[in-house]
Formats: sequence, C-alpha cells, structure tokens
Amino acid sequence: MNKTWWKEAVAYQIYPRSFYDSNADGVGDLPGIIQKLDYIQSIGVNLIWIGPFYKSPMDDNGYDVSDFYDVDPLFGTLDDAKTLIREAHARGIKILLDLVLNHTSDEHPWFIESRSSRTSPKRDYYIWRDGKVDAKGHRHPPTNWGSFFEGSAWNYDEISGQYYMKIFSDKMPDLNWESATLRQDMFKMARWWLDQGVDGFRVDAIAHLARDLSFTDSTLPLNRHHVAPDWGKFSNRPELFGYLREFHDEVLRHYDCMTVGEVGGGASVEAGVKYAGYDSQIFNMVFNFDTCWKNNIFANDNLKDEDIVIDVVDMKATFNRWIQGMKDKGWMPHYWLNHDHPRVMSQYGDPKHHHRESGALLGTILLTLPGTPFIYNGEEIGMTNVDYTSVDDFTDIWVKNYVKEASKHLTMDQILSHLRRTSRNNARTPMQWSDALYAGFSTAKPHQKNVGNYPTINVAAQDKDPDSILNAYRALIQLRRHSDLSEVLIYGDFKLMFPEHPHVFAYHRTLGKKHVMVVTNLSAQPNQVVLPTAYRKVRYSNVHSAPTTKALHLQPYEALILEV
Ligand code: NOJ
Repeated sequence: MNKTWWKEAVAYQIYPRSFYDSNADGVGDLPGIIQKLDYIQSIGVNLIWIGPFYKSPMDDNGYDVSDFYDVDPLFGTLDDAKTLIREAHARGIKILLDLVLNHTSDEHPWFIESRSSRTSPKRDYYIWRDGKVDAKGHRHPPTNWGSFFEGSAWNYDEISGQYYMKIFSDKMPDLNWESATLRQDMFKMARWWLDQGVDGFRVDAIAHLARDLSFTDSTLPLNRHHVAPDWGKFSNRPELFGYLREFHDEVLRHYDCMTVGEVGGGASVEAGVKYAGYDSQIFNMVFNFDTCWKNNIFANDNLKDEDIVIDVVDMKATFNRWIQGMKDKGWMPHYWLNHDHPRVMSQYGDPKHHHRESGALLGTILLTLPGTPFIYNGEEIGMTNVDYTSVDDFTDIWVKNYVKEASKHLTMDQILSHLRRTSRNNARTPMQWSDALYAGFSTAKPHQKNVGNYPTINVAAQDKDPDSILNAYRALIQLRRHSDLSEVLIYGDFKLMFPEHPHVFAYHRTLGKKHVMVVTNLSAQPNQVVLPTAYRKVRYSNVHSAPTTKALHLQPYEALILEV
C-alpha cells in the first residue's frame, strides 16, 4: 500500500459562518478561524476543510457563489484567506477548499450574462430549455424532475422566456459541463486556488455534473410537490466521469493535492471505486452519506420520538460494506456528520445520561476505522441538536422550502419535532466556546440561535477536564497519528466482530504483527461479550476500566482499544 500524507491525516471540518466571529457582526469569519488555529492544532488534527467563503448572496450559505476569486465581506478578505493558509501551514495544518463546480449563484456575472438573451455568448454556460405548454395553454417545466431542495429542478426565467435547470435552490443555476469553455474556466479557477496555497479540495455535489440529455420525464411516482424525486436523472451518469478525468488531467495531477468528492446519497460502493479507486485518475476519496442515514430519523416527517430506532446492526453492516468494498481498491474518508446532517451526539449518543461516555465512544470509532477521519466542528465536545421552539429559528433555505410545503399537511408541532431531529440547522449552530453570552462565539447576536446547553457543553470547560470528550479526542488522535499503533490504525486490515450483536460495535485492526481490537457498547445498558482473542494491554478506555480477560462486561457506552 502506498503511503501518503492524506491517508495519515486527521481532518477537521469548519463551517465558517458558525465557528468564531472576530468582528462582532454575529457571523463567523476567516480572522476568527485564524484566532482559533492554536485550538485546532491542540486537538491534534493536521488538515482542515473549510466550508465555502467565496463572495455569495448567501442563499445557501456560500454554496451559491457569485465570485470564485474573492472572499465574501461577511467572512473577510482575500488577504485574510492568504493569512489563514500561511498561518495554518506554519502549524503543520493543511487546508481543503470547498470547491463548488455544479452551480453558481444567479448573481454570478456568467449567469447574469447568460440569461440576458438566448444568443448571449454565455448562454451555454447553464442549462436552458423551453417549457411545455398544455392544452389549456398553461406553461410547465421541461421535465417533471424534482430538485433536492423541494419542488421542480427547473425555474422559469422571465427575461429570456426559458427554464434553467437548478437541482438545489432557485438561486443556484446548474452549470453546463458539456461546454468545453465552461470547463476550462472552472479548471482555471481551481488552479488559481491551488496556486494560492490550498492543499486540495472537498468537491461539492460532484455526482451531478452530467444529466440525462434526453430530458425526458421520469416514470417514478410524483411526490407531493408533483415532481419525481428521480436523482438518477442527474447523478453518477457516464459523461460525468469524462469531465472528472479531464479535471484530474488538467488540474489535479499537477499538484501534490488531496481531493475528497461529495458523491452523496445513493452512490454504490462500485461508484465509489469509479470515483476514488487507486487508478481512477479522479479523486483520492469520496464521501457517501450511507452511514449518516442508518437510523430511521429521516423515515417520515411524522415520526414520534419513541418510534426512533437505532439500528446498530445495520450501521455496522454499512460501514463494513464500504470498507470491504473499497479494500485494496481505493481509500475512504469517514465521518459521523457534516454541516448537512444532524448532530451525531443526538443520533447515536446519549446527551442526557451519558454525554461524556457516548461522545468519547463516537470518537473512538471514528478514529480507529481505516480511512481518513473527518471530525465536524463541535463534535469534539459533543455538541447536540437544537432545542428550538419556533420554526422561525431555523434559517436554512432547504428548511424554509420544506416548511412552506409541510405546513399544508402537518401541524407546527410535527414540523418542529421533525426539524429538531433532521434539519441541517442542527449542525450549524454557533460553536460553543465557553459559558459566556452567545457561547463565546460572538459578542453580538449570532446569525443562528445558540443551543441552550452551552453553559455546560463548551470548549473552555472541557479543555480543563481530563475526562472530557475533547480530551478523549486529543488522546485518540495522538494514538492514531503519533504512537506505535499509528500504522495499524491507519493502514491495517479491518474485520468486524459480532456483526449481529444489537449494541456492540467491535472490530479487529491488524497489520503484520500488530493487532488491535476496538470494542464499543452503543447502548445505555451494560453488555457482555467474549472476545475471540486474549490481549496484552488496554490502550484506551473511555471509562477507565481495566479488563484483563476475554469476557468483557461493558458499561454503558464503554469504548476500549485493546492491544493483542
Ligand atoms: C452539498 C453541500 O454540502 C450543501 O450544504 C449544499 O447545500 C449543496 N451541496 C449545494 O451546494
């Protein structure tokens, strides 16, 4: 196996808007990240992925880019970005830029020009089609395809009298990757950022650059918005891989950079290998969403709390399917959540009764799986989902679109409980730095309301508590990156133990003579297992237990790393 820096990295994702506000406007910014670099370094990570900070009208918090070559004033300046890159490098931390290739903002000059007339030289930078007209003379979108953000994948443009495609919000028109000139413009932009010193990219929404060019209606049943949620019409399509190989050839292969593509929901392991196989000539690794969706919180929007099932067997099987499927074929990233998912502490942890143990347990799994671990900011202190009591506290564009529709058939209480469980706002609350007003995130009212538990769950408190989740992450990262177990934890084989056990997630990691067993109890109840092998040493325990025999009596949310 080839060894590379990005296989050995531990990454930390920063959602810039919610990380740290240096200029008291209620929004996190790049100077805020710079001020917190010592903290980031203290966790032990050596790679950060920063969410988009380009110039943007912020319809989707920066994923709607209006200028790829500049920083939005909300976040700072281009000089701040350069300082951030320099200061991070000085601390041995590399930086991944969030590269948005699928769409721009409708306020990007390309789109303004493109929509100005049907003969505009930039017309083919986007996807324009005539609508359909029914017998009564009513206008309809070109196809019945649905968008990810509710409603149709098309929006009518009054200026030029055609529809443009947009699989996210109305203000995020999709780029047309069939245009060779557009592709060259995007490659130029990516090269420019690499030349500024970024070390690679997290590539946004990458599965969607090619669509079904027949533009025919989907035959899937229509949903309540009267559109077909047929993601296959614009996901993982064959033409896409040609575009991405060209991107690799023209840009990536000329730099010692790292790439992680977001392939989203529904991508198979086989697709994972196509994108990130060792000889794919595309990406180094790709995120899938499968493990994030492994309990039924998303099942329907009328779910009651008591109906939530944590299916550990299914979750283990999903990790295992990806790990075994990619084995020897390609590298993988692992993560519990990002800015698009609810907080893992509220999904698989037990914030009420076993906050500390369950938080450290989740860290133990993340940091001992094969692949590059990505920690999401706040996860290292066990931040939780929101406790909001009004739908107005939810600010996300996706949520707003959802509420508009859902209020036609659900009560506000049902909507609220669904959002508290599933919405993207859960991960986007201000980082909890201390028990000061607004959690020490800002001195002004934050762009999104704090979670009420910040007086107890915060960095300052956990920093000085040797048994905190934060210090568990530090110890685990140390073990992964700088110990005699590093090689086996990074490059070792993975073999699941007790696949059918309803609560225990345990596995072997082996490399040459090194052999480690990781044993975790994802339950508020004690559990017992008998290990297949004796061990010499307990290398980590989140509850200070010191077992010596193969018969383990696991405490609630106990996590152990045992050296054989
Ligand atoms: C995926 C990003 O993670 C998400 O936040 C964003 O809304 C969409 N891509 C569109 O860019």
